[in-house]
Amino acid sequence: VPPSHIRNFCIIAHIDHGKSTLADQLLLATHSVAQRDMQAQYLDGMDLERERGITIKLCAARMRYRGAADGQQYALNLIDTPGHVDFAYEVSRSLAACEGCLLVVDASQGVEAQTLANVYLALESDLTIIPVLNKIDLPGADVERVRQEITDVVGLDASDALLVSAKQGIGIAEVLEAVVQRIPPPRDTRGDPLRALIFDSYYDPYKGVVAQFRVMDGELRRGDVVRFMNTRCEHPVAELGVLAPKAVEVESLHAGEVGYLAAAIKSVADARVGDTVTLKREPATEALPGYTEVKPMVFCGMFTIDADQYGGLREALTKLQLSDAALSFEPEVSSAMGFGFRCGFLGLLHLEIVQERLEREYGLDLITTAPTVVFRARTSDGAEHVVDCPSKLPPAATLSAVLEPYVRLEVITPKEYVGPILDLLQTRRGEHIEMQFMTEARTTVVYDMPLAEVVMDLFDALKSRSRGYASMEYSITGWRENDLVLLEVSINGERVEPLAAIVHRATAYNIGRALVKKLKEVIPRQQFRVPIQASIGARVLASEAIPALRKDVLAKCYGGDISRKKKLLQKQAKGKKRMKARGSLGKVDVPQDAFMAVLRIN
Ligand code: GTP
Repeated sequence: VPPSHIRNFCIIAHIDHGKSTLADQLLLATHSVAQRDMQAQYLDGMDLERERGITIKLCAARMRYRGAADGQQYALNLIDTPGHVDFAYEVSRSLAACEGCLLVVDASQGVEAQTLANVYLALESDLTIIPVLNKIDLPGADVERVRQEITDVVGLDASDALLVSAKQGIGIAEVLEAVVQRIPPPRDTRGDPLRALIFDSYYDPYKGVVAQFRVMDGELRRGDVVRFMNTRCEHPVAELGVLAPKAVEVESLHAGEVGYLAAAIKSVADARVGDTVTLKREPATEALPGYTEVKPMVFCGMFTIDADQYGGLREALTKLQLSDAALSFEPEVSSAMGFGFRCGFLGLLHLEIVQERLEREYGLDLITTAPTVVFRARTSDGAEHVVDCPSKLPPAATLSAVLEPYVRLEVITPKEYVGPILDLLQTRRGEHIEMQFMTEARTTVVYDMPLAEVVMDLFDALKSRSRGYASMEYSITGWRENDLVLLEVSINGERVEPLAAIVHRATAYNIGRALVKKLKEVIPRQQFRVPIQASIGARVLASEAIPALRKDVLAKCYGGDISRKKKLLQKQAKGKKRMKARGSLGKVDVPQDAFMAVLRIN
């Protein structure tokens, strides 16, 4: 297919606005997938993904389409994008592989934070944006209001927005025609040296790494020796193909086309998203712009409940890393938890996904410690240390500065929740940047704040203060020095590293008190009295004690009625079961909850 008859596009949307449903309809309408083979949400390959209804892994699909207006044959490449901010870099790479995008907005909801964040990325990549109002079948759909919102807030002309119900298959033909008519074809640079942009790569146990790419210039043939310009690896191409959406092998791919290659590459770290593929024999001089090494920003400790599973955990992490270059881990020994790993992630969602895969696919029982962000500490000798674990902060006496990552946060909310949300952000060390009334009913609020505050369950707090209506999105903007101190917790007289946290001095006292209270609630009573303390250095901020357990739970209801006794015995049995999932802190057995206590304080 010549470049003039290719269209490369993607779909951007806020979660649940119907991206996957629309993608499925496009595949059906172009007969790329037969109705009987249609498993709901074809592009969401991973089970985990389907269950959670979020798009984690990118994917591409080539569709054949005969133009309704001109009767000509086109190849439409739909490139899927992950919607979540944790994967913002992957979003920007998949957008860079396209000339245009469909901007899907739920006509019963309107513009949300992710809609905006994705539109900014699309504008940066100079994409042609086609607004699509989805879910017009819903009684609550308000096409005119949302059209106005897109015009006012996003700054796009939405007068020619397409009206669609992906669920009922309304307006799908118009979408395909608009893709052909409005999105420009790729530039014809077939004669130039090869440059192909990798927008996704995954690990296949049989083929090695399968990299999906868009050829920007030149041509690639099977058997060619390719060079990855940023990682400098070289490999002969063993397999070349397109996903239609099933894999179909081809002999060559040229400028404008989208496809995949396999070349017996052992780890995705060698063929990373954003890298440029060129030919060894005739290399391009300059790599495509925008390659960045992604660095983990959120860390936590992972320990197996059963010490025998330690080897299994290492093996599983090693395997996951083959397919996930953004995951980092190194061995960690903790006096409280034994042997485990300090693991690094892009963000909270990434952490949750990895944790779930470890438990589900590898059958591991894990205890994870509360996530913390990465800090930078400068010591008086002029050295700078990366602190990925709070207890590793150098001693206060040697510190000259502690820096923490900052984000710009954008919240969109119905206006009646603006008050509570501003209060919340203010208590999270937020710095008000601006507030805009998008429409009569909705407002955007922009704050700068430490990533650490976002990691502390901000999303849930926001949802609960807005009855689920507010949406948020953030991007990392840089590092800032703050008056940060190490808050330590001791249980039964022993310092407990996994509970240590780096916090702002001004909030340390409140956090310490709340944390100690929370721990008292979640740690079950022991046979002995257990003191709990929070301190900064030698200064104790708060202390509590869990009273000793009375051995005979029935003693206190001597002569009481039988149902109450039964209840108490049941409670005790339940307690025993819960104790199975536990760690041991200061010789005290504690449930997983205790490690997350710091996240649950407000
Ligand atoms: P993520 O994968 O989480 O980003 O969501 P998505 O944007 O892909 O949304 P998805 O296609 O999974 O749709 C979300 C929900 O909206 C599903 O329950 C769909 O059935 C429903 N939905 C999608 N399109 C329509 C529509 O046109 N009308 C109605 N009534 N519901 C729709």
